[in-house]
This record gives sequence, structure tokens and C-alpha cells, in this order.
Amino acid sequence: MHDGSGRIIVNQLSKRFGSVAAVNGLNFTVEPGLVTGFLGPNGSGKTTTLRMVLGLVRPTAGQALVNGAPFGRLGEPAKVVGAVLEAQGFHPSRTARNHLRVCAAAIGVPDQVVDHALGSVGLMDAAGRKVGGFSLGMKQRLALAVALLGNPQILVLDEPANGLDPEGIAWLRTFLRGFAAQGRAVLISSHLLAEVEQTVDNVIVISRGYTAYQGSLDQLRAGQRSRVLVRCPDPGRLAEALAKADVLEIDTLPDGRLAVSGAPLQTVAETALGAGVPIYEMTEEKADLEQVFLRMTSGEYSGGQPYGQPGYGGPPGPGYGGPPGPGSGYGAPPPGYGPPPGYGTPQPGPYGPPQGPGQYPPAPGGPPQNWGGR
Ligand SMILES: Nc1ncnc2c1ncn2[C@@H]1O[C@H](COP(=O)(O)OP(=O)(O)OP(=O)(O)O)[C@@H](O)[C@H]1O
Ligand SMILES: [Mg+2]
Repeated sequence: MHDGSGRIIVNQLSKRFGSVAAVNGLNFTVEPGLVTGFLGPNGSGKTTTLRMVLGLVRPTAGQALVNGAPFGRLGEPAKVVGAVLEAQGFHPSRTARNHLRVCAAAIGVPDQVVDHALGSVGLMDAAGRKVGGFSLGMKQRLALAVALLGNPQILVLDEPANGLDPEGIAWLRTFLRGFAAQGRAVLISSHLLAEVEQTVDNVIVISRGYTAYQGSLDQLRAGQRSRVLVRCPDPGRLAEALAKADVLEIDTLPDGRLAVSGAPLQTVAETALGAGVPIYEMTEEKADLEQVFLRMTSGEYSGGQPYGQPGYGGPPGPGYGGPPGPGSGYGAPPPGYGPPPGYGTPQPGPYGPPQGPGQYPPAPGGPPQNWGGR
């Protein structure tokens, strides 16, 4: 029925809603043992993609495979994929425990797993409370408990951090890392890179329904080049000396400082010393990931105009599967940009299947203490 790989493969996936091209030829793989972030601005096609992965929306073209099969052919899907798309659909006068019992019966798992799931998401103290009185964050946790009932190999969560307080976000991060550490796969969407930066191993960035980047977060970080900013009385002389040392990427900032790329701080300092140019100030500027994210997805709502700082141009252009149109002038893509080698071909993963029946991922760090009292 399925290959048990714990992998999601999305291949040339597209969806049109009338004249709206919501998803355009997406390609990506979600590997077991890793947390994969699915990132894109509002309206970029994240939910539509996840719904296609979960068999809730029929693709216009392409396919999404879970464990090598379309979701609809998984047999007992709740034991393969646990999903939270929207933390809604709860009966307000039902308690959390009873809600989970109904869901457990629907997927054919015994009642005993209900308390385990409640404990895993830190809702044990609120188990007997009516869901109608739950906060948004508590509903998110309850929805996650539902997703865990089948002891799935894969978790698919659409913007799970919405409504969570900082403690809840930290808890979710630890929980998802613990889940992946057991060799299971996690796919979480977000419109904020910063929100998931400390949680994910890999990222897929989509912009207007196209894959703008797929690769590891480390690769994305490594691709971000730092610059050395130098204030000195004679920038011309320093630039000349640097050029002689084969350091050629030098800009002059509006405030008169030199911005030197492609050379470490020490080289710039030693070159200045050798040229007899005194340095008044020198700092290393690291490009931040959020800027990279904005650069990849910019123009989504601004008619393709550059977004934010000068130098951060439009979305990826032809050759990267990106949308046609404006956006020329964007910088070179970071390493890892576009599909990785072997892309589209299932790779043997280093992780085996989940540990065994009835083994829930632990709730590392323990559940928060104050749910029952609200
Ligand atoms: N059922 C539908 N009918 C018509 N258009 C739709 C439908 N569902 C989604 N769309 C359109 O498809 C595009 C992508 O929407 P989608 O909900 O997938 O984006 P998203 O990335 O999840 O956004 P958000 O961050 O706001 O949740 C949008 O233009 C949206 O209006
Ligand atoms: Mg969405």
C-alpha cells in the first residue's frame, strides 16, 4: 500500500482556482528525521499545498506522495500522517478528553492513547474542561493531540505557532525537535522565517506558488556573505590598496564608509596598516536570514517592486522555476538555491521507521504547568 519511508515527495504540483494560479509546479521532498519549514508570505500557496498533500484538494497537475503513495491510498492515513491545518472544528461543550475519544474511535485507536496524547501536548490539567473555553493556543495544542492519536510517522502542521505565547512556541520547538529526533518527519508552515528559524533543519521557501529555495538552513546561512564596514580618513587609498591585494568587491556607502565583501576583517585591517591608512571604525556586518527571506519572496504584494532595502530585489527569475515578470537585479542565489542533487529521487534516509506501536514522542521538557488554571 505504501513504502513506509516516512517521506513526502511533491512533484510538479500545481493548483488553479479559476483564474488564480495558487501553486505552480512545486517540487520538494520532506525527509524523515528532520523538521522542514515551509515558508512563504500570505497567499503564497502554503495551505493549498498542504491540503493537496493531505488529499483535501485535487491538484490541477503533478502529484504529492506520502510514503510513496497518494494520501488517498494510504489505507490507515492517521497512522502515517498527523495533520493540523486549522485549530477549529471542536464542539464547544465537549471536554478536551471527550473530543479526543471521539477522534480516537473514528481512526480506530483505543481510548488509552487519549491521555497519552493529552500529556504529550501539555493539556493533561485541562483534560476535563470544555473546549469552548479554551484559548487559541490551547486549541492549537488540542489539535496537535488529535494529530498524534494515530502515532504517526509524519506531522504536517499549518502555521502551528499561531496563537502560542512565547512559552508555547518554545515548547512546540522542543516537542517537534524531539519528534523528528525519533526518525519521524515534520513539515510546518509559517509566513515568518524568524518564527521557525530555531526549529527547522531544512527550509522550502515558496513565492507566488513557486519554489524559491529548497535546502538546509545552514546552507542558506552559509550563503549569506558578511561585509566589513570601514570608516577611515582616506577611503580611496584604502580601496586602492585592497584592490592590489585582489579584494575587489568594494562599495562606498552614503555615509562615506567602505563596504568590503569577500575578505575577512583581518585582511582589511592588515591592508590598511600596510597602506598607512588609519582606521577610525571597523565592523563586520552579517546579512540576516530575514533579509534573505524577504529578498526571495519580495514583490508578492507590491507589483514586483523591490521590498525593503536597496539591493534586495525581486523574486527568483527564470532558471529557478520562478515566476516571470519584474524582479531583475536581485542578487545571486545562495548556494543550495533550487533543487538539491538527487532531487525528486527518494534517497535512502539514515533514519528507520518510528520506534514501535504505542510509542508517543515524549514531550521533552515536560508539559507547561498552568493550563488547568486558566
Ligand atoms: N478555495 C479557494 N478558492 C479560490 N482561491 C483560493 C482557494 N484557496 C486558496 N485560494 C487562493 O490561492 C492562493 C494561495 O492561498 P493559500 O491559502 O494556499 O496561501 P497561504 O500561503 O496559505 O497564505 P496564508 O499565509 O495567508 O495562510 C491565494 O491567492 C488564495 O486566495
Ligand atoms: Mg495558509
